[in-house]
Amino acid sequence: MRILEIEKLSIDYPINIGTVKAVRDVSLYLDRGEVLGLVGESGCGKSTLGLSILNLLRPPGQIVGGQIRFKGTDIVSMKKHSLMALRGRDIAMVFQNPLTSLNPLFRIDKQFLETIRQHDPHIRKEKALQQAENILDALGVEKKRLYDYPHQLSGGMRQRIMIGIGLIMNPEIIVADEPTTSLDVIVEAGFIDLLNRLRKEFELSIILITHNLGMVAQIADRIAVMYAGRIVETGSADQIYHNQLHPYTYGLINCVPNISLDQKELVTMPGNPPDLVDPSAGCPFADRCPHVMERCREELPDLIEREAGQLAACWLYEETGEPPWKN
Ligand SMILES: Nc1ncnc2c1ncn2[C@@H]1O[C@H](COP(=O)(O)OP(=O)(O)OP(=O)(O)O)[C@@H](O)[C@H]1O
Ligand SMILES: [Mg+2]
Repeated sequence: MRILEIEKLSIDYPINIGTVKAVRDVSLYLDRGEVLGLVGESGCGKSTLGLSILNLLRPPGQIVGGQIRFKGTDIVSMKKHSLMALRGRDIAMVFQNPLTSLNPLFRIDKQFLETIRQHDPHIRKEKALQQAENILDALGVEKKRLYDYPHQLSGGMRQRIMIGIGLIMNPEIIVADEPTTSLDVIVEAGFIDLLNRLRKEFELSIILITHNLGMVAQIADRIAVMYAGRIVETGSADQIYHNQLHPYTYGLINCVPNISLDQKELVTMPGNPPDLVDPSAGCPFADRCPHVMERCREELPDLIEREAGQLAACWLYEETGEPPWKN
């Protein structure tokens, strides 16, 4: 079942020197119980896209086109009270930066209670705290930490608390933005186990935003690759790791050694991602692409299904039939 559908979504940040086109014409979907990995370089628009799913964009960010539908209902035009009910209960977000998302003035128990009471105002305090303790237990945080202030916790503990607050209402969708960046590999592995358990037990659907391709490989069913505010390629995890159609995806996967892939050579990707302020016409990857053609600088390629379930936004496929690295 399609639980979330994003259609032609565009998000702008108007600033004094122009408009940052942070998300451009993005279309994505998420099925129940599925994990979608959203990957891409810093600044390509991942967090902006993630925040918009809960209609949580901060000014000057604004959705300038498109739709986001949760079980058929458009979130973009939803009234405030419906949004408040949706957040946490139906869709929850685990934020990128736990220190700025936890309130430094309140102990952790209070922050859990606030979330629980928002959706279940008459719950007994003991019952709510029991739920919070259970979730911390599952995340490998001692129960007594519930009574600490955020500054008394390590970065990794804070991040796990954020994950716990996200999961506490058993949401149907979790949008997790770099959830494990300050965790060590052992805790990260525990987190991945937990997500796998939850998706099986509760059919939880997950959008996992990350630079960490290793983590995505362990858990994602499908992957969407973002570049300069656009989805440049999407497909099953297997297609993205073993059969890339976009030169950016090819570079991303093959610029790091991976023993499970049949890599002939490591690829380098010179240059930096383009400025998103008033982007020029043409493919945003053109300046860094080793296979760039004249057409690429003039026309923006659409995201088109090229193989079953695999879509790519690249002229190469159209002009040459097959990406050159396959020969
Ligand atoms: N409040 C804002 N005002 C203006 N521009 C913004 C604002 N927030 C984000 N941007 C711009 O929008 C673009 C996308 O930012 P975003 O935070 O979504 O990227 P990201 O992919 O999450 O990056 P990272 O991997 O570093 O977290 C960037 O160019 C950023 O500078
Ligand atoms: Mg981000």
